Amino acid sequence: METAFDYSRIPPLPSAVYVAPLKKPAGVGDDWLEPAQRRYTPDEHRIWDDLYARQIGLMPGHACREFMHGLERLDLGRGGVPDFREISEELSSLTGWSVVPVPMLIPDHVFYYHLANRRFPAGNFIRSRETFDYIQEPDVFHDVFGHVPLLTDPVFASYMEAYGRAGWKALKYNRLKALSALYWYTVEFGLILEDDQLRIYGAGILSGPTETVFALDGQSPNRIHLSVDRVMRTDYTISDLQATYFVIESFRELFHLTEQRGFEPIYESLAPAFQYAKTAALDTDHIYHRGTQEYELRGGRGSGAKPV
Ligand SMILES: [Fe+2]
Repeated sequence: METAFDYSRIPPLPSAVYVAPLKKPAGVGDDWLEPAQRRYTPDEHRIWDDLYARQIGLMPGHACREFMHGLERLDLGRGGVPDFREISEELSSLTGWSVVPVPMLIPDHVFYYHLANRRFPAGNFIRSRETFDYIQEPDVFHDVFGHVPLLTDPVFASYMEAYGRAGWKALKYNRLKALSALYWYTVEFGLILEDDQLRIYGAGILSGPTETVFALDGQSPNRIHLSVDRVMRTDYTISDLQATYFVIESFRELFHLTEQRGFEPIYESLAPAFQYAKTAALDTDHIYHRGTQEYELRGGRGSGAKPV
């Protein structure tokens, strides 16, 4: 017989935990938490400019209003990979966030530490010409073009900080996988309703041309209203277009469904594994579009299937 775990025996985290400085691991340099931004070569700066030029024209009619405001405000198209100190100055005057350069992969607790302190960790490298169209690791273009504009929005900025704190709690409850699904389906691949029209706020979508069109116009993927409990039980695709996108009504709604409700009760109700397939549409879902899943069924990326 399965016995439910008694979460009341886990002591609560004192709030200082979230912002307490991290202890430097033995054997790493003093700049381990915030290395200097690398100096990009002229060709790397041109890669940024070309990525920017390709993406910016697609933004009107696809990206949400708050993202467009942030893009304008930060002027990320001034030429070359942006200087993190300059964007951080502008950002911190608006919402108190800054952008810190990080290597390709950082440990979960370091990622949550940065977010809980309103520091956005952004890749300290840019893709090459060979990987211009697709790169799995988040590079500086994905991180800065995709994520940073929304950090100018006060409500979204608060959600991201709350997410960092929720990360510490997820470590405690052993529910990191569920919390990652929430990040995936909101921060990376979220859609939002704007005057009854669907728009994109997810950075994973907005930093690439194919998914920018597919997420809104494709017949293949499901589009379903976000339920946090449902999303945190749902598997997701890491290196291909998503089979399902989740829609919010506003950033206030997102903040309300997560931080205001409290992450602990959500964690307490979750099983450790995912319950729903990424293609699932449930009876209890509020469905905007039931996808054909044609792209997925034909084999997705690598099979030559068209993103329809
Ligand atoms: Fe990302």
